[in-house]
Amino acid sequence: MRFGVLTGGGDCPGLNAVIRAVVRKAIEVHKADVIGFRDGWRGPIEDLSEQLTGESTRGILPRGGTILGSSRTNVYKRENGPELVRATLARHNIDGLIAIGGEDTLGAAHRLQQDGINVVGVPKTIDNDLGATDQTFGFDTALHVATEAIDRLHTTAESHNRILVIEVMGRSAGWIALHSGIAGGADVILIPEVPFDIDEVCRLIKRRHARGRYFSIVVAAEGATPREGTTMTINTGETDEFGHPRLGGIGQRLEREIESRTGYETRATVLGHVQRGGTPTAFDRVLATRLGLAAIDAAAAGQWGMMTALHATRIELVPLSEAVKEVRRVPVEEYQRYGVLFG
Ligand code: F6P
Repeated sequence: MRFGVLTGGGDCPGLNAVIRAVVRKAIEVHKADVIGFRDGWRGPIEDLSEQLTGESTRGILPRGGTILGSSRTNVYKRENGPELVRATLARHNIDGLIAIGGEDTLGAAHRLQQDGINVVGVPKTIDNDLGATDQTFGFDTALHVATEAIDRLHTTAESHNRILVIEVMGRSAGWIALHSGIAGGADVILIPEVPFDIDEVCRLIKRRHARGRYFSIVVAAEGATPREGTTMTINTGETDEFGHPRLGGIGQRLEREIESRTGYETRATVLGHVQRGGTPTAFDRVLATRLGLAAIDAAAAGQWGMMTALHATRIELVPLSEAVKEVRRVPVEEYQRYGVLFG
């Protein structure tokens, strides 16, 4: 048997742990070869590949990023994309692909499966917003990075009596903002799922001042938007091949709005890609390894069109169609439950 593997979309700590687990088990247990494709779907489209071995995947477990490279290439936006993928797989005698990715990569995997190309999916994203799995690897690492940053910003905010705004990733789901904000004891948390009222944000900050707390921490997801529906999130106008806008700017915008409305000195920090880089946490390494082992087993058993998923403590298979049905957002009631901790 011969299988292909690729990593698509934004990179995420834990990708190498999946690749390592897939290759080890393919060779040791299933006596199969694994061909690694470079740069997401670009790899099978343009036939950018290399055989992966125990040797070439040694030492990669704690490494962030992906040894295969990644891209946001959309197979269905490339001329003859699916046919080129099919031809590459035939050229290498590959039985099927293991695609490690988020909603876009797995969405393409699902369509390819419907078009007769064998694919097993493995869910990844720091955003933790994929349906059909309880948690994605990468999220725990991003959460640790964001929480550590909040802890560090807390002490300097207190020393200078400043309001510090921290912009974290999450364009349509606020999991990183909510969990890092709660873990870091933030005074205000703004997420895409619940449009905010800038007057309410300022009221909470002023109330803290009235109580003798002259500093505040505001955590905002990059996709947080004002309730009025006006465009406080600055959209650069650029979109990727899947049509997602490149966001950014809510932190700076909040900095200006809060300072001018309250008169308190305010500074913004944008964490950006720091959240996606570096070594995965132990939790993410273990989850990624478990998903990789299950994915190669599924491929070897011919269970195409499925995705490995975490359900409570178990790794199970779910149809790819379930995984890409909808983005998993923070339920409004869950956000509201923490309201008592704000301000
Ligand atoms: O999907 C993961 C993610 O990190 C999002 O949180 C973020 O909005 C996006 O990727 C950024 O993508 P890029 O690195 O392509 O700018």
